[in-house]
Amino acid sequence: MTIQELLCHAYKELAHLETPHLDAEIILAHVLKKPREYVLAHSEESLSDAEAHRCNSLIARRSNREPVAYLTNHKAFCGRDFYVDQRVHIPKPATEDMIDAIQREVPNDFTGTIADIGTGSGCIAVTLALQFPKAAIFATDISDDALAVAVQNAKQYDAHITFLKGSLGEPLKKPMDIVAANLPYGWHNGWTDDAEVFFQPEISYISGSDGLSALYELIKKLPRMLSKSGRAYLEFDPRQMQTITEFLAKTNYTYTLLKDTAGFDRILRLTK
Ligand SMILES: C[S@@+](CC[C@H](N)C(=O)[O-])C[C@H]1O[C@@H](n2cnc3c(N)ncnc32)[C@H](O)[C@@H]1O
Repeated sequence: MTIQELLCHAYKELAHLETPHLDAEIILAHVLKKPREYVLAHSEESLSDAEAHRCNSLIARRSNREPVAYLTNHKAFCGRDFYVDQRVHIPKPATEDMIDAIQREVPNDFTGTIADIGTGSGCIAVTLALQFPKAAIFATDISDDALAVAVQNAKQYDAHITFLKGSLGEPLKKPMDIVAANLPYGWHNGWTDDAEVFFQPEISYISGSDGLSALYELIKKLPRMLSKSGRAYLEFDPRQMQTITEFLAKTNYTYTLLKDTAGFDRILRLTK
């Protein structure tokens, strides 16, 4: 079977998806361990039986809406490649907007403490560790599986991070100058109908009946977690904005809502 024949078959198998051509070409390039451009430029090249079999099996999984990132074990985040598999949430572009907000407000030679709460693949912690090499970076997660992936990603980039297992900021032993968190904020029944989301670990995207349990618990604990001048950057679902601001009105926090690149209120910036 040639590359062209396999791609023609894959385009048909994936025709019900949003980007069948792109997905098929990424899968084939992944199996051949070549760039996507190679696949497009060598359409007459023959595939071995093993390569064709591997491609067809991944195409069948993609046809079932399994995310491409789980098929290739790669996801780009802030210009770097992160290893991902079904043990972790797949990093999202909206979270890159949170990183941008932190980078705008914190100098590169920052020497304080930074915590990433609910680190998952470690994408936030690794990005911040590389951006702020003089800072002390901590990352927590309640999931052993997630921490194993995060440690792997940190090693890949030689990022110096103290990983701690536990709920929210519980394992942190000293005050943090910056807290960043993309905690689960979804709910059952109606949060999303995107079938790809459901391939991720439920603990990474569901948080109580309104998606706000983890976020509220963290906000309540922030006064003890943050240093005197500390601040927190917290990602949320834009549909939760009004509920969250009503909740905050009953607290003593000073807060700002920051927008994502799509123009939605998406990040909460809190100070004590
Ligand atoms: C939406 S994922 C975010 C992962 C990663 N930070 C990212 O942005 O891609 C949420 C992460 O929070 C973790 N988590 C859920 N509840 C937690 C809790 N109470 N304490 C710490 N981590 C928690 C999950 O295991 C998951 O890895």
